[in-house]
Amino acid sequence: SSAANVLRSSGYPTKPPLRRFLTDCHEEFRADNSGQLADYIPELKRANPDHFGIALVTIDGHVYEVGDSQVPFTIQSVSKAFVFALALEMVGEERVAATIGVEPSGEAFNSIRLTNDNRPFNPMVNAGAIACSGLIYEVDGKGAFERVRAKLSQFAGHALGVDEAVHASETATGNRNRAIAWLLRNYAVLPDDVDAVLDVYFRQCAILVTARDLAVMAATLANRGVNPVTGVQVITPHIVARTLSVMTSSGMYDYAGEWTYRVGIPAKSGVGGGIVAALPSQLGLGTFSPLLDKHFNSVRGLKVCEALSARFDLHML
Ligand code: DON
Repeated sequence: SSAANVLRSSGYPTKPPLRRFLTDCHEEFRADNSGQLADYIPELKRANPDHFGIALVTIDGHVYEVGDSQVPFTIQSVSKAFVFALALEMVGEERVAATIGVEPSGEAFNSIRLTNDNRPFNPMVNAGAIACSGLIYEVDGKGAFERVRAKLSQFAGHALGVDEAVHASETATGNRNRAIAWLLRNYAVLPDDVDAVLDVYFRQCAILVTARDLAVMAATLANRGVNPVTGVQVITPHIVARTLSVMTSSGMYDYAGEWTYRVGIPAKSGVGGGIVAALPSQLGLGTFSPLLDKHFNSVRGLKVCEALSARFDLHML
C-alpha cells in the first residue's frame, strides 16, 4: 500500500523515537570521561566511573531504560527532595516553614552558612536536609529512618535497601555535616539528639537506588503524587507542588539558576552520581553516572537532561 511505501521510503525506525533518542544519548555521552568521583566520602571512590544508566518513565507508566539503569548506587542528596515531601506530610507546612527557608543559597551543597534569622536557606542543601531529618526525628524518634525508608520505597515502588559501607564511611568522616548540625542545634533548629538526627540523615543518603528507581520516583512527582507503576498515591498534589518548587529553585545547588534557564525541568542531584528530573504531567527521568562536575552534579546526567529538554522542547516555560 502507499502507506507502507511512505514508511519504507522514510526509513521508518524499528525503535520508537524516545528509545532511540535515549540510546543515542547513551552512545554519545558515555565517551565523555570528564569529571571526578566524589572522594570526601571515601567509600564513594570505589564507584565505577564507566557506569552510565538512563531511565525514563512516563506518567502512564511506560518505562524506558538504557545502559546501567539497574545498577544500584547511593541516593545521597537526591533523597532531600523526597524527605522534604515527607517532612511536609508529617509536620505540616507551617512547622516546616518556621524551620527551613525556600530561598536558593547560591552556595555549595555543604555550606555552613545560614540565613540572617539562622535557618537553613532551603531543604536541598545539607543544612536544610538535616533540619528535615530533625523534624521527622521529632515525630518518630528511633523509628525516623524506617519512616524515611518506607516513604522513599513507596516513591520507587519497591523496598529500598541501604549501603552499609557507604553509611559507615560517611559516619566516620562526616564532620562538616556534624558541624552544621551542631550549629543548627545552637539555634534550636534541631532537638537535643543531634547525633541521632545525623544518623537519620547519613542513613537516608546511603539508601540504594537505580536509575530506574529514580525515574519512577520522579514520575511519581510528575504524576501529582501517584506512582504510575504501582498506582499508589504516595503524597498529595499540594506537597508535590511545594517539592517541585524547591527543586526548581535549589535542586542543583549553585548551578540551579543556570539549570532552570537551560533545562527548565525540576531536578535534584546527588554525589552518588544520580539525578532525578520530574516534568509535571509528563515524565520522570533518572540518570546515573558517578563522574561529577565542580558543582557536584553528574556530568553525563546533566548532558542527558539538557539534550532531552532541547530535543523534545520540554523546558517547562
Ligand atoms: O551530606 C553529604 O555530603 C552527602 N551525604 C550528600 C551530599 C550530596 O549528595 C550533594 N550532591 N550533589
